[in-house]
Amino acid sequence: MQKEKIALAYSGGLDTSIMIKWLKDKYDADIVAITGNLGQQKEIEGLEAKALSTGASSFHFVDLKQQFVEDYIWRALKAGALYEDVYPLATALGRPLLAKAMVDVALEENCTMLAHGCTGKGNDQVRFEVTFASLAPHMKVLAPLREWEFTSRESEMDYAIKHNIPISVTKKSPYSIDENIWGISIECGVLEDPMVAPPEDAYQITTSPENAPDTPTVVEIEFVQGVPVAVDGKKMEGLDIINRINELGAKNGVGRLDMIENRVVGIKSREIYEAPAATILHFAHRELERLTLEKSVFQYKRHIAQDYANIIYNGTWFSPMRTALDAFVDDTQKPVTGMVRLKLYKGSVSLLGRQSPYSLYNEALATYTEADSFDHKAAEGFIQLYGLGLKTYSEVHPVK
Ligand code: ARG
Repeated sequence: MQKEKIALAYSGGLDTSIMIKWLKDKYDADIVAITGNLGQQKEIEGLEAKALSTGASSFHFVDLKQQFVEDYIWRALKAGALYEDVYPLATALGRPLLAKAMVDVALEENCTMLAHGCTGKGNDQVRFEVTFASLAPHMKVLAPLREWEFTSRESEMDYAIKHNIPISVTKKSPYSIDENIWGISIECGVLEDPMVAPPEDAYQITTSPENAPDTPTVVEIEFVQGVPVAVDGKKMEGLDIINRINELGAKNGVGRLDMIENRVVGIKSREIYEAPAATILHFAHRELERLTLEKSVFQYKRHIAQDYANIIYNGTWFSPMRTALDAFVDDTQKPVTGMVRLKLYKGSVSLLGRQSPYSLYNEALATYTEADSFDHKAAEGFIQLYGLGLKTYSEVHPVK
């Protein structure tokens, strides 16, 4: 009889390497290892050989980069989604896409179970499993890290040695790092003390602001309906835009974030993020919105941004609430077309200028020169009526 098959989210690290053997034994099943590419720099070469030599019956590599940019990152950018006003959500945005890619392979390969290597106290288990439940409710979900016997890296190594599981002997970084093109998340080690400043070696891609060039980088980013389309006058694919802005930002020390955040599972955790492109593009996008959005839309949209960030963070991407908010956001983005000129300099991003064919900035109304076209007389009557309610109130309740 054919064995049952388990689809496993595979990274090639120690956890998921020994997980192949552990799952095979425990469930007497074949393991289908799946790795998704979200634009991480980590070596992808050799992963297939590694998965197979570790005992997987097949290996799937799914290139998700373009889909990640177009269907996930750009939506988050248009919405202005920054979790608790800071985190651009790189890790959180990648999870539903990885989970969906896994389900696709699992269905194709007739798997009956889905397994991931997330810990039992993090957000990622929630994101994976909520997505699995939406897309493949009939499949059994396995989270070995929540139940297996290993309590340390050493005990995992012992298991690997005992079962001849080839593991790379490279010295493990003291940090736990998750990476994709929208950003890098770094935690553990000395970072667990919120009073300890992140050591320089915690940062993976950014130059420290102190060591950044003494001459600033000026960059122009063009948007069409809220989506970046060109850098310095050159039209580019989304992926290339993010890579380019990451490069310029990293060189100038832009995009380092240090945050205490509220996890879904009730824990406050401290995480360091490096997200040069996300930081710069969110900044540029918001500045263009200031120029082009009508006042009440601009102000209302800030609430939507928070709700949207919570949806991403909390793992409910595949939900009617998210698609409903997308419809709202897309409608707001119709005039968000134009160009923003920025300066990147020693860790900061600042604004040099902005322009749009849909600019609502009217110089004739704004100016304090002779060219002024604003009707000052009209202000008088406006203020009378605008303040009338409070004037009446204070007659009854005098302000002390
Ligand atoms: N705190 C971030 C989130 O919940 C990142 C989680 C993964 N972090 C890591 N260093 N492996 O989305």
